[in-house]
Amino acid sequence: MTAQAGNEAVEASVKQLLSEMTLEEKVGQMTQVDFSVVSTPEAQNAEPPVDRARLEEAVINRHVGSILNAPLSPNNRAAPIETWRKITAAIQETSSRTRLKIPVIYGIDAIHGATYTQGAVLFPQAISMAATFNPELSFKEGEITAREVRASGLPWNFAPVMDIGRQPLWPRLWETYGEDVHLSSVMGAAYIKGHQGDDFSAPDKALTCLKHYVGYSFPINGKDRTPAWIGERMLREYFLPPFEAGVQAGSPTIMVNSAEVDGIPGHANYQYLTTILRGELGFKGFTVSDWEDIKRLYTRDRLAASPKEAVRIAVMAGVDMSMVPFDFSFYDLLIELARSGEVPMSRIDEAVSRILTVKFQAGLFDTDRPVPPVEGHFATPDAVETNRQAARESIILAKNDHHILPLKKDARILVTGPTANLLSVMNGGWTITWQGDNESLYPQDKPTVFEALRKKSAGKVTYVGGQSFADPIDIDKVVAEAGNHDYVLLALGEKPYTETLGNIESLMLDQTQIDLANAVIATGKPVILLMLGGRPRIITAIADKVPGVILGFLPGMEGGEAIADIVYGDYNPDGKLPISYPRNTNDIVPYDHKPMESYDGNAYKPLYPFGHGMSYTTFETRGLSVDKAQIKMGENVTVRVSVKNTGAQKGKETVLLYLNDVAASVTRPARQLKAFKKVELEPGQEQPLSFTLTPRDLSFIGIDMKRIIEPGEFKVMVGQETAGFSVTE
Ligand code: BGC
Repeated sequence: MTAQAGNEAVEASVKQLLSEMTLEEKVGQMTQVDFSVVSTPEAQNAEPPVDRARLEEAVINRHVGSILNAPLSPNNRAAPIETWRKITAAIQETSSRTRLKIPVIYGIDAIHGATYTQGAVLFPQAISMAATFNPELSFKEGEITAREVRASGLPWNFAPVMDIGRQPLWPRLWETYGEDVHLSSVMGAAYIKGHQGDDFSAPDKALTCLKHYVGYSFPINGKDRTPAWIGERMLREYFLPPFEAGVQAGSPTIMVNSAEVDGIPGHANYQYLTTILRGELGFKGFTVSDWEDIKRLYTRDRLAASPKEAVRIAVMAGVDMSMVPFDFSFYDLLIELARSGEVPMSRIDEAVSRILTVKFQAGLFDTDRPVPPVEGHFATPDAVETNRQAARESIILAKNDHHILPLKKDARILVTGPTANLLSVMNGGWTITWQGDNESLYPQDKPTVFEALRKKSAGKVTYVGGQSFADPIDIDKVVAEAGNHDYVLLALGEKPYTETLGNIESLMLDQTQIDLANAVIATGKPVILLMLGGRPRIITAIADKVPGVILGFLPGMEGGEAIADIVYGDYNPDGKLPISYPRNTNDIVPYDHKPMESYDGNAYKPLYPFGHGMSYTTFETRGLSVDKAQIKMGENVTVRVSVKNTGAQKGKETVLLYLNDVAASVTRPARQLKAFKKVELEPGQEQPLSFTLTPRDLSFIGIDMKRIIEPGEFKVMVGQETAGFSVTE
């Protein structure tokens, strides 16, 4: 039975199955364990690397409903696709021997492609996908990722991240689609639609999981899993809408915020998990805890007086499945709580029904369906080409004085810096391993930036640098070599990381990188600065002194090729910033800031604003108009503008449409992105565009925390032009 089989049939099957289940079988469905629970260090050399006895203990005796993570955990890393197929087949075979034959749902972090399957197509990370401003590419990323995880036997992907990235210190900023609500919602929804199609039980589709609901991305001190202080209005205005878009796009699972908002840990927040998620957003799927987070209500948060109380609080708040993940404590404790009546059976039935519904909808009960063949479903040439295009469109040309770029192919280029000759620095965390930092596991056939430049060059491209990010670079040698070259490509940035291991206390670059930059600049050679990494790091003093700046963030496995394409002009850059690039460490102001952040000492003055990104051609938008000067509440407005390629090269431009509510009872952002379109234009070509602004676009969260529209003036801004209309009662 599949999603196509219809809600009623699924409902009836779930009801029937539930009526046959024991308490233990129900609680097992709510339990998710790490792969290490069904394996051992010895078994890791077996094929498949499972320990049959431990697998039976989990699935048959403890009725475990879900398993996650890569084999060889805790030193988890990607396995060959054939190994995955055998692992998942062994698990399925085991679940088919349980009394009720309920399939196990396997979950994996495939956040930029099938992370844990060797040789998978690994896309730009979300921050870079957002920089493409191209939802079609996000849709294709979803499609390809789903195909590759399904071919690995895996039906459930812990992606996309729908947290918005408004705290640049946060070590997971790059897992988000940036600071803007609209862009994040559009990119995330497109990804989900590509990943799930109309029917996520199809053999090349897989389930998505929105994470981390909600408010996780805004830690006040910037460190991972630390408190956020988000008022209700801000929550509803900024943090909830991307999740709402994800629910509407059909994602059937949601992972919970691992930290806390306003003193309430995500896993204990009934208002968020039940009142808002179910009551307001209408979410029908199931929620899964994040890693060990129910236990942490006791061990870390001291919210619960015992592990058992932690289980009760989380389940009653609305957590349906526990990512325990290393033992059966959740299972044991929830059985006790159910027996004593501290957790009512109705709540357990509710959670289990949600989980079973998703399992039916995903077609997991149709166990004789073959896993799609590897051939045609994995690392296909067209998928690699799509990835390369995504990488190209993700690269941001931030500065290009005197048209220093593109460089001629016969130019003599000295390449240096800690990110110039590594693949890991372009991929970030969740690449082959959790931290993504094991360079030796990266595919040999993908070029680094240096290698890609050298490959395309008809001149001399030299690298001076180390073998790893931390290797010291011989500055004297760099300076001496610079004399033999026409340009220096200086690649700075960050090593790969995720979660708390990526915590930093300052956005400043480390002194070694600053010293290298100063020495290179002092040679007087023209320098192109390339930044790679998951966060903006402060480059103001360097960027001021060099003619060219490229912001690469995390362009993925094809990043080297894509950057070389842009450096040599084989591709005309069109990426735009999905965040505001700070000028200084405390200059953390998003583009949709409040009016009081618009002038004097408070003015928004990032190094590069949201939406910034240059091209080798020039574009002009003109003729901005609205179809009605006045509308009634509830009506749409059509906005028209045309965009022209006024330069000499073909290129793509993203036209961004901003809105401002001129006067309102709650302070409104100076401007908010409401629509965008990316178009490709030949030199001299002009294209008319039209956008529809809906009542929702004009709305905001009013004094009483409800979404409202107030009559009055609105301003529409595109490029240099402004138009206006008013709304009447
Ligand atoms: C992360 C999640 C991830 C989960 C499972 C957690 O530590 O916060 O994003 O999905 O682990 O690997």
